[in-house]
Amino acid sequence: MPVITCIDDLKRLYEKRVPKMFYDYAESGSYTEQTFRENSSDYQKIRLRQRVAVDMTGRTTETTMIGRKVAMPVALAPVGLTGMQCADGEIKAARAAEAFGVPFTLSTMSICSIEDVAEHTSAPFWFQLYVMKDEDFVDSAIERARKAKCSAIVLTLDLQILGQRHKDLKNGLSAPPRLTLPNILDMMTKPGWSLRMLGTKRRTFRNIAGHAKGVKNMSSLMSWTNEQFDPKLDWSKIARIRDQWGGKLILKGINDPEDARIAADFGADAIIVSNHGGRQLDGGVSSIRMLPSIVRAVGDKVEVHLDGGIRSGQDVFKALALGAKSTYIGRSFVYGLGAMGQAGVTRALEVIQKELDITMALTGVQRATDISRNQLLVPKDFEGDWA
Ligand code: GLV
Repeated sequence: MPVITCIDDLKRLYEKRVPKMFYDYAESGSYTEQTFRENSSDYQKIRLRQRVAVDMTGRTTETTMIGRKVAMPVALAPVGLTGMQCADGEIKAARAAEAFGVPFTLSTMSICSIEDVAEHTSAPFWFQLYVMKDEDFVDSAIERARKAKCSAIVLTLDLQILGQRHKDLKNGLSAPPRLTLPNILDMMTKPGWSLRMLGTKRRTFRNIAGHAKGVKNMSSLMSWTNEQFDPKLDWSKIARIRDQWGGKLILKGINDPEDARIAADFGADAIIVSNHGGRQLDGGVSSIRMLPSIVRAVGDKVEVHLDGGIRSGQDVFKALALGAKSTYIGRSFVYGLGAMGQAGVTRALEVIQKELDITMALTGVQRATDISRNQLLVPKDFEGDWA
């Protein structure tokens, strides 16, 4: 059993154990991948203040997200095709999150369905919804989420058209993979993945196939997004969904103070500062760099969460110090899932919590809720002086 000390260790194992097409799917940004890269690398520009002789006993990483107690300020982000990274991946990740005490968010583009996850977990999870042209599908997804006792809907606003990720096109990404010679040869070098995948019936987009009119066998994210994502999405459509759902609503994909202000006035329970992991608008600014101006724009009108580029507890610490109430990890948990299944997701969460805790100790903070700008050294030009 390899010794896992950081998220990068999980990533190395993940690359060895999962077919290339799914590794590439997770490990891509759109076009030049500038935003994808900077989402992570911008954390390196921020430094921490070393503080000493502060009683470091009784530390806690606990906090809340939209009123829910969480073991640390980290939720699992919605990630499409998670059940292709490891058989029954969404169920495994949700179970790991439940045991750890953090929220799990199920993607609309998941392999395991809302019902599959509800059947195998007991803590309420969150459901990420895309706005589709087919309003019946949207309405029924909301009702299915209600029936499954989901405690929040996370509405994604930054993917009404799919950003181009070159590798997915070149690899012919689909779920399950088409049985071409290169795919078969690749799967033969990933026997654990292949055997587990043969042992499950969950191998396509089960939230959609059989639930959307006329869609029986859906294998491609691309064809569905091309046909079905609603390019007319605007705030009136968001209001329709809010009213129909009536429960907690988190708006995901806000990366500009002006949109953040509108979202705060709209009355969401939280916004997620996000650029979809750099998978949509390439050339946009990293989420961590946009965070301070967004926090200034909304004040305490709405809870501010953040995703994008988080690979360590130190990154979580920096996001909190710049004003996020909480964060999400996507790739960091997918690496764990692909590397070691449910145990790998647990390991990713443990690694991040330990890093967060030790960073708190060494910066003189006892409670995650007390992390503030005071613990950071931020370069003067961090936010950018854009014309
Ligand atoms: C869609 O959910 C994607 O980012 O691939």
